[in-house]
Amino acid sequence: MTASNQEVSLGMPQLPAPAYPADVLARLEADAKEVIARYPGSRSALLPLLHLVQSEEGFVSRTGMAFCADQLGLTTAEVTAVATFYTMYRRRAGGDYQVGVCTNTLCAVMGGDAIFDRLKEHLGVGNDEAGMTTADGKVTLEHIECNAACDFAPVVMVNWEFFDNQTPESATRLVDDLIAGRTVEPTRGAPLCSYKDTARILAGFPDRRPGAVEASGGAGAASLVGLKLAKGETAPQTRVVGPRGEAPGDQPQKGAEHLSSHDAPQQTSASDPEHPAGPAAEEGE
Ligand code: FES
Repeated sequence: MTASNQEVSLGMPQLPAPAYPADVLARLEADAKEVIARYPGSRSALLPLLHLVQSEEGFVSRTGMAFCADQLGLTTAEVTAVATFYTMYRRRAGGDYQVGVCTNTLCAVMGGDAIFDRLKEHLGVGNDEAGMTTADGKVTLEHIECNAACDFAPVVMVNWEFFDNQTPESATRLVDDLIAGRTVEPTRGAPLCSYKDTARILAGFPDRRPGAVEASGGAGAASLVGLKLAKGETAPQTRVVGPRGEAPGDQPQKGAEHLSSHDAPQQTSASDPEHPAGPAAEEGE
């Protein structure tokens, strides 16, 4: 262990992080070399390297942080500061599938809070981080912040793939399928893979699964409605809005006629002719 990665907490030296087995270390060093070579300054590679070590163990362990520090010439304090800042890095082991329920304001009022509560009860997991993984190690449940998919609220993400317009019932089916090992299809984007495989893709290694590249990217129709309206084009007639409490998947897809009320231009009140709005008067006039 080098002096740079000795861990010190409140003046008390900690035991060195356990080492990776030699074969794992050799493999990770080769991968790290490839990642670091992408950047003009090596420390810029810290975020992908944290994903790389997460792909090995399913979380960022002390061993993983010491590895990153050694590869980049940083202290473990510097690495720890970054790893603990971003919620995409796990600090302890979790499930094969990280199920995140968006409970930010819009998703919460559209049903995200109800989905989270239903899943928590259905999965029998607790409130603290350690207790949010099912006993079989398949699913970890967590709150997530807004993922800029508000037009598909309420949103659930599994290993960072989108499952849009969810309900407590559809989300319950989703976790049941994950636990049973049945194939589930994200609403859009790339096919679902395990948490460790997702971490490796996030480290910047190509996703070689058939159809993965073609399937990823692209905004959904609901995201483009505002743009179409701003351009004076007809709004795309594709979004089907289910009754409250039902996801589109819970009902027959009839097609175009049920656009959300939010998707159409809204009437605004007429100006008050007695008090027309005009430019603000200059001070002193
Ligand atoms: S509030 Fe949930 S995606 Fe924005």
